Amino acid sequence: MKINNKYKVTPIIGLQWGDEGKGKGVARIASTLSKNDLIVRFQGGNNAGHTIYHKSKCYVFHLIPSAVFGKALMHMGAGMVVDPAALLREAKAIPKSVSFLKRLSISPHTVLTMPTHLILDSISEKNKGSKKIGSTGKGISPAYSDLTARKALRVGDIFYNDFEEKYVALREEHRKVLCEQFDYEISKREVKEFDKKFFSGVRFVKSLRVVESAKIVEEVFGRKHKVIAEGAQGTLLDIRFGHYPYVTSSHTIASGVGTGLGIPPVLVGETIGVLKAYTTKVGEGPFPTELGGKKSAIWCRDKKLIDEKIFYANPNPNSKNEFEQGVALRRAGSEIGATTGRLRRTGWLDIPLVKYAIDINNSTKAILTKLDVLDGFKEIKVCVAYKINGKVVHEIPFNLSRVNIKPVYKSFLGWKGKLHSYGKKLPKQALDYIKYLEKTLGVQIIYVGNGPEEHHVVERFW
Ligand code: GDP
Ligand code: IMO
Ligand code: MG
Repeated sequence: MKINNKYKVTPIIGLQWGDEGKGKGVARIASTLSKNDLIVRFQGGNNAGHTIYHKSKCYVFHLIPSAVFGKALMHMGAGMVVDPAALLREAKAIPKSVSFLKRLSISPHTVLTMPTHLILDSISEKNKGSKKIGSTGKGISPAYSDLTARKALRVGDIFYNDFEEKYVALREEHRKVLCEQFDYEISKREVKEFDKKFFSGVRFVKSLRVVESAKIVEEVFGRKHKVIAEGAQGTLLDIRFGHYPYVTSSHTIASGVGTGLGIPPVLVGETIGVLKAYTTKVGEGPFPTELGGKKSAIWCRDKKLIDEKIFYANPNPNSKNEFEQGVALRRAGSEIGATTGRLRRTGWLDIPLVKYAIDINNSTKAILTKLDVLDGFKEIKVCVAYKINGKVVHEIPFNLSRVNIKPVYKSFLGWKGKLHSYGKKLPKQALDYIKYLEKTLGVQIIYVGNGPEEHHVVERFW
């Protein structure tokens, strides 16, 4: 495959609110790489859920890069927060026949997520009531908070004799906060169980190659090979440039590659953006193109898939009821959280939002995913602008939650039958949609996803 970024890291970044299909895109690109190339994660933790199908079997990666089934080296970068117990679980779920451990390394700067971070995350979310963010409960915000408070434990610390002592001190500090602020007690038995799992995970981390992220990047560039950075979450979830406070706690954008790996910005090349053919979001926060508006947000917060199936056995994609159309999108796209099992909120593609993401990431190429999910929709809508207080605007406002926003839509005709059945020759209506996106967004769409499995891809431009 052609990547122009010779000796620059190529970021692969979600252009929406996460779950765009980054895992499948990364796995596809990884399948073209050699054993001297490198795939890195540079931020986030196991709040990420990256799904891939390999030989028709489904795998979800949370911490390990989505390149296990390829040949390339894999690295968990300095900007990540890693729960050692979760990492060990994830590694154990990979078939024994796949040799990946020798290819996997981690930075000494990577922050260790502790069991008490997970409890702090869940309990503080619960206490926020209607102001909750809808976090994944994986301890992400407390772990990054400890980093900025300059007391986090990092991978490099595990090699010192006082590691256990430091762990116990921080664990006890967390327990005190839980007790005093939230009236929440962790029993001695629970503490023992947590510690056991944490330290098994730590022993696993010790067995990996521990290397500075910048050093491994330099080694790979020194051998004149490629480095791909697998983004987690999406641009609109970036801690600073997302829809704050409905965001995660790390820099999800291409600039995060620099600080997440400790490499100069000049080494970060053009981004490959991952773009879903419509929009989804998990958790709370504004979502201008959400089908069914507030009703959908509440429904997805309170209901499970099993409840939804009782109300909507066969949702109609062409229903006059927008909420039902949203349900149809969710079902056709299996839009259920890969990490938490929550219903993902669904809506039409939002061009101003994606343009913002493309600009911020310097995305020149894009992977368009899940176009097949629009099979059966006679009309496909795209939000091209917003109406705010009667005025048409083409840019997303600073604070989406504080304005009364109405999407302005443009319609496209759907295609007949299943996209997949057209093979590599996409139907005219799908091509019209793709070409419109390329022109409006100023990117080249290099892959189009027409199903969840690894071979469900239409390659364009090479
Ligand atoms: P990520 O977090 O960005 O890696 O995305 P997720 O794995 O959380 O969610 C994407 C979902 O869409 C997964 O269930 C994938 O298997 C699925 N998927 C990816 N690409 C396609 C596609 O082109 N078509 C369909 N139908 N499903 C896809
Ligand atoms: P991938 O990599 C979608 C969302 C959560 C919540 C907010 C904060 O699979 O695309 P956190 O646990 O990070 O403190 O939650 O961010 N969120 C994601 N949404 N995909 C993800 O990752 C996400 N990771 C976090 O739902 O709204
Ligand atoms: Mg995901």
